[in-house]
Amino acid sequence: MFDYSFKHLFNYSFKQRTTAVADEKSFHMTPDEFRRHGHAVIDWIADYYSKIESFPVLSQSKPGQLRSQLPPAAPEQSEPFDAILRDIENLILPGITHWQSPNFFAYFPCNASGPAILGDLLSSGFGIQGMLWATSPAATELETHVLDWLVPMLGLPEKFLSTSTGGGVIQDTASSASLCALLAGRERATHYATNARGCTGNLVAYCSTQTHSSVEKAAKIAGLGAENLRGIAVDEKFAIRPGALAQQIAEDKSAGRIPCFVCATVGTTSSNAIDPVPEIARICREHNLWLHVDAAMSGTAALCPEFRYIHAGVEHADSYCFNPHKWMFTNFDCDVFYVADRKALIQTLSVLPEYLRNQATESGAVIDYRDWHIPLGRRFRALKLWFVIRHYGVEGLQHHIREHVASARQFAEWVKEDDRFELAAPVPLNLVCFRLKAGDAANQSLMERFNRSGDLYLTHTKLNDRFTLRLSVGQTNTKHRHVERAWKRIQEEAGR
Ligand SMILES: Cc1ncc(COP(=O)(O)O)c(C=O)c1O
Repeated sequence: MFDYSFKHLFNYSFKQRTTAVADEKSFHMTPDEFRRHGHAVIDWIADYYSKIESFPVLSQSKPGQLRSQLPPAAPEQSEPFDAILRDIENLILPGITHWQSPNFFAYFPCNASGPAILGDLLSSGFGIQGMLWATSPAATELETHVLDWLVPMLGLPEKFLSTSTGGGVIQDTASSASLCALLAGRERATHYATNARGCTGNLVAYCSTQTHSSVEKAAKIAGLGAENLRGIAVDEKFAIRPGALAQQIAEDKSAGRIPCFVCATVGTTSSNAIDPVPEIARICREHNLWLHVDAAMSGTAALCPEFRYIHAGVEHADSYCFNPHKWMFTNFDCDVFYVADRKALIQTLSVLPEYLRNQATESGAVIDYRDWHIPLGRRFRALKLWFVIRHYGVEGLQHHIREHVASARQFAEWVKEDDRFELAAPVPLNLVCFRLKAGDAANQSLMERFNRSGDLYLTHTKLNDRFTLRLSVGQTNTKHRHVERAWKRIQEEAGR
C-alpha cells in the first residue's frame, strides 16, 4: 500500500524530485521558492483583509489607467516574484472594486471567506481536471456528497439527492445552470429530437419580466430565440402572475407552439421578489413543462428554518439552483444545480467519444459530471464548499445569514421613518429597494455622490420605471454597524 501521510508525500514528491532534477535546466518555481512566495502571498491577503475598509469600495481608476502603466510587451527574461507582488500593490490594487469590503452593498454579494480561499488554493494545488470520475474519483465523490448534505440543509426535496432519481452538480454560474435546465426541458418536450435535428422555431419558454437576463441569454443559446421567451407580467410585489402565465401558455398552444420550460425565481435580482412556485408548479404539471427554480442569491437563506418557506413548491420543480458564491461565503465560482431526474439531463448533454471511454464509466457505477454541464473540463470546486461548510458548520452559516437579514430589515425601518425616502418593494430577506421621493434625478445624483466618496457602494434598478436604489446586505464581513453607517452616510448626503 502506498503511504498517503503528508510527511511521506513530502519526502517522496518534493525532496526526491528536487534532487533528481537539480542539474536539469528549468525555469519552474521550485517547491522551496513556492513555499516562500506562497507564505508572502497569504500574508499579503491577510493584510489586505485587515485593512480593506481603508480603500474606496468602488475603484477610482480611470479608463486605461492600468494599461498605461504596463509594459507594451511581455518580459523576455524571468522577473523576481517580489517585483510581481509589488505590482499587485502599486498597479492592480487601485483598479480593484472591493467586493469583499463590508461596505459593499451593490448588485448581489460575491462572497469570499478564509476557508473558501484555502479550499480553492488546494484545488489549484492539486490542479486536477475532474471531467470523469476516473480522472480524480475524490473530486466527483466529494461533490456528490457535499451536494447531498445541502439538500436537507436547505430543506430541498429528497428527489434531488444522488441516492434518489436526481442529484446535484456544481456549475460555474446560475447562468449555466439555467441554460442546462432549458436544454433539458427543450429535449424532454421534443423527445430528444431537437438535439438531433435542431430547433424548428415553435418551442416557447416562460419567465417573468423580472427574471434575470441569463434566462434570455439561455433562450438565445439554446436556439429557441429571445422572441420565444415570454416575459410574463408581475404583480405589485414584482412576482409573476400565475393567471397570466396560464393564459399565455393556452394562447401559445392554440397557436400550435410547443411550450417547454418555465423559470421561476426565488429572489429576483431587481427587488428580491419571490415567485409563487406552488401555483407555477401546478401549471407546469398540467402542461408537462420543465420547471426550473432560480434561487441564485436567496436560496442560501433557507439554511435558516424560519426562511425555508421560500422553497415552498420546489418539491414539484424539475431543477433548482442557488449560488454559494453569492451569499454562502464561498468564493466565485460555485453554483449548485439540482435535477429531479438526472437521466433527462444526462441524455440531453452526453456525448461519448472513444477517447473518454473507460472501465469505470462502462461499469455504470460512477457519476461522470462532464455529462451534467456544458464544458468537458471541470475544476475541483467542491473542496472550497466542503471547507466552508465544515468551517462554519450549519450554526455558523445560519448566524451570519440571520444577521444580514436582520440588518436589512432594520435598514428598511429607518427608510420608513425618514420622510424624504420611501420603500420601493417588500423586503423579504436581505435586499432593500428604496428611493428619495424627490424623483429619478435626485436619486441618481445621490447614488453617484456616495459611490464616488468611496465610503460605500450600492447600485440601482428600475421598478415601475422609477430609478430605485438597492442596498444588498450579504458581504461576508458586513456587520450591523456597517449598515448603520451606510444609512448615516446616505442620510447625510441626502441632506446636502
Ligand atoms: C436571480 C439571479 N439569477 C441568475 C443570476 C446570474 O448569476 P451568475 O452570475 O451566477 O450567472 C443572478 C445574478 O445576480 C441572479 O440574481
